[in-house]
Amino acid sequence: MNEAILAIDTSCDDTSAAVVCGGSQILSNVVSGQNLVHERFGGIVPELASRRHLEMIEGVVDEAMTAASISFASVSAVAVCKGPGLIGSLIVGTAFAKALAYVHKLPLIGVNHLEGHICSAFLKEGGPPTLPFISLVVSGGHTSLYRVDGCGKYKELGRSRDDAAGEAYDKVAKMLGLGFPGGPVIDRLARTGNPRAVSFPRPYMPQTLDFSFSGLKTSVRSFLAQNTPDISTEDICASFQAAVIDVLIRKIEWATAQENITSVALSGGVAANDGLRQRITELKGIETYIPPKPLCTDNAAMIGAAAYEQFLKGDFADLRLNPKAYLPVG
Ligand code: KG4
Ligand code: ZN
Repeated sequence: MNEAILAIDTSCDDTSAAVVCGGSQILSNVVSGQNLVHERFGGIVPELASRRHLEMIEGVVDEAMTAASISFASVSAVAVCKGPGLIGSLIVGTAFAKALAYVHKLPLIGVNHLEGHICSAFLKEGGPPTLPFISLVVSGGHTSLYRVDGCGKYKELGRSRDDAAGEAYDKVAKMLGLGFPGGPVIDRLARTGNPRAVSFPRPYMPQTLDFSFSGLKTSVRSFLAQNTPDISTEDICASFQAAVIDVLIRKIEWATAQENITSVALSGGVAANDGLRQRITELKGIETYIPPKPLCTDNAAMIGAAAYEQFLKGDFADLRLNPKAYLPVG
């Protein structure tokens, strides 16, 4: 059996622990979400998130070890997300991982959360994509395009200049009174709506692979202020979603053309979107890798995947590892 890494992610509002072998084989992947804690506030409350991580982390790690039927004697390293994310949440995961590494005399590996999302493509569940590939990381905190030449070899091609796509979903859902998180419910309502009912703007920004979704969000707000009762919530959801997906798909096309690459992988919470998953498979001449939904949203298995390359290189952290709320890839 390849080296087993115990991986932990507490970057946002999910407490997660996983055991991953050789950077690709998931032995366990436990995620404890916090939607019940945050939904009445219509968004994540950072202080409540870190407190909940504190309550959950020990049980989640125990569950991941038990589900993998492994003991610490057979674990080769402890990996933990060191950012970007909510600082209070990150501190809980890194402090716990440091304690485990110290007690069990194991190497500690600090992993960038975004590199984790990119590396979800290297997990066995359907992957890995043919190298090099374009990776679209599209979540609540980020919308970024990367050229990936291997695990650990990434070049950022574009990123969100304002709201991430998932953030736009969550804010539009809040305006419509649909609760939190907004992505899954908008996705579901969009299925029965008319995507051409409202013509929302597509912020293509042709000169760049960067993204901007805040204007689209504002135009939904302006539309709602006009009070047009003949347009249903389903139609608004379908029209908003069509605008987001049109932009994501077009930027993927531009990135593949610019880099002369025919392989594309999706990751991040918005990659769980059924509309996006469908549209990307319709791209001509492009091989697509779409992870199963639980590997799109935040999970620790992706941290275990990214950590493996660092493990092989001996890229270890020490007990002074401090997480960072802002942490660019690379
Ligand atoms: O990757 P993730 O779990 O956490 C971050 O790192 O942000 O992504 C969470 C985001 C939320 O904004 C949520 O609304 C969105 O992913 N999301 C979706 C769907 N499922 C989750 N957005 C659109 N459609 C979905 N089905
Ligand atoms: Zn994430």
